[in-house]
Amino acid sequence: MKSFYITTAIDYANGSPHLGHAYEKVLTDVIARFRRQMGDRVHFLTGTDEHGQKVQASARARDIPPQQYCDAVAAEFQAMLPKLGITNDDFIRTTEERHKRVVCRLLQQLFDQGEIYRAEYQGFYSTRQEQFLQNKDRNPDGTWPEIFGEVTEITESNYFFRLRKYQDWLIEFLTQNENFVFPRYRQTQVLEFLKEPLNDLCISRPRERLEWGIPLPFDGQFVTYVWFDALVNYYSAVVDRPGLWPASYHVIGKDILVPPHAVYWPIMLRAAGIPLPAGIIVHGWWTQRGSKMSKSTGNALNPLELVDQFGADAFRYFLIREMNVGQDSDFTADQFLVRYNSELANNFGNLVNRTLNMTTRFAGGVLPAAAGSEEPERELHALWARTAPECVALCEGFQFHTAIERTMAFVTATNAYIEKRAPWKLGKSADPQERARLHTSLATMAEALRLAVALLQHVTPASSAKINAVLGYSPGPIWRDELVWSNRLDGAKVAEALVLFPRPAAAKPA
Ligand code: MSP
Repeated sequence: MKSFYITTAIDYANGSPHLGHAYEKVLTDVIARFRRQMGDRVHFLTGTDEHGQKVQASARARDIPPQQYCDAVAAEFQAMLPKLGITNDDFIRTTEERHKRVVCRLLQQLFDQGEIYRAEYQGFYSTRQEQFLQNKDRNPDGTWPEIFGEVTEITESNYFFRLRKYQDWLIEFLTQNENFVFPRYRQTQVLEFLKEPLNDLCISRPRERLEWGIPLPFDGQFVTYVWFDALVNYYSAVVDRPGLWPASYHVIGKDILVPPHAVYWPIMLRAAGIPLPAGIIVHGWWTQRGSKMSKSTGNALNPLELVDQFGADAFRYFLIREMNVGQDSDFTADQFLVRYNSELANNFGNLVNRTLNMTTRFAGGVLPAAAGSEEPERELHALWARTAPECVALCEGFQFHTAIERTMAFVTATNAYIEKRAPWKLGKSADPQERARLHTSLATMAEALRLAVALLQHVTPASSAKINAVLGYSPGPIWRDELVWSNRLDGAKVAEALVLFPRPAAAKPA
């Protein structure tokens, strides 16, 4: 079995989760479930990033100790996961001993190797971003961009990690591994960034300025820069689990690709002699009226409200259907309702209802065997024969939105097939040929439904399980075998009805 280790970014423990955080978990879960279906041994990690200025400031604002504050926020993030149907295997918190131990070991190793050195630094510092700034970071008019908050000029002694030494190596690596970052245009951005000379990375913060961090193992007057600490989570979480490192993919948002994930992290690993992950998947942002959804902008949606109102599957379906991985997407309540009503309730829900209802009315609730096939069946078989491999290939390439579109086109075609066959007319006839057609049409619509359900399973797992249950069907162990048009439902006893995607009472998501 191939091992497939996938991670999300770890969220700052400085506030409640919003829709952007939820999306990243759902996307990673869809990939994880898909790879499990494909037979990989999946390990799925997520967690919280708990040290640093932002977290310290949020805890102080509430006048509680940072650890206590982190415990509460981490619990909130953790509690969200099952509500979204997330199947993570582990949850790491950077305040855990298992993590801190590995960070210290790595720092000490790099220090002993001479990859970390002490130097005087004089320059500009952004407290909000916990970052040293250069003149190239200024606006054209010389002021500092909003995102940096208050910028102060400081002189202090600090520890630096030799990034520059590895710049040529990194360029060479990315040139040879052109699929390291997905989508590829994001990798081009990394190479653009690397056209400018890199500065060595300041990896320490004096304790008088920042208390809340991992003390440097070789100098207790300093704590570790939060990014140097946080990135290590991917490795520290599996260091005692043989066979998982290197990771297959880190799933992250576009704001944290350059420089942390595409520059610091590969160089940290390289310097320590640890193998690199196979790739990084970069998604875009959920925006509202064009601006990034975030706590600080105050336009963040609470994902759990949508889940409470529409169910986890509808929420997952919308996020994955709407977003082309890599690009941004604007969230609107109207668009959510359009997809919910037209795709889930009408198109998909209708196929479920018709199948159950007609089998009950015309066949006593037991699915008959198909009695041959004619043109309408052959057309649907042919469409399926194209749809299944196409969707598998799309999912392998993280094009889930298009895979869903194709699957839904197959559902639409199945509904059109039902219209054409009109079993409600066939059911009234005593003519043996018409009876045979009735049986064929019931068997065909049920089989088409079973197949569509299998293709949507990693996106809408709870609904897929419910539909299989009302079809009296238990899928076999090999998912790809489930995608073959066969007669698995012959003789199955189906339920009379299932309400899957109820009409929301004139309600709209916030
Ligand atoms: N703590 C760092 C990540 C450290 S990883 C070693 C961080 N945390 S975060 O809470 O700000 O963001 C966590 C993830 O959520 C990031 O991948 C970020 O891109 C993603 N999102 C935050 N807001 C988002 C949207 N509005 N839309 C989509 N994802 C966004 O960065």
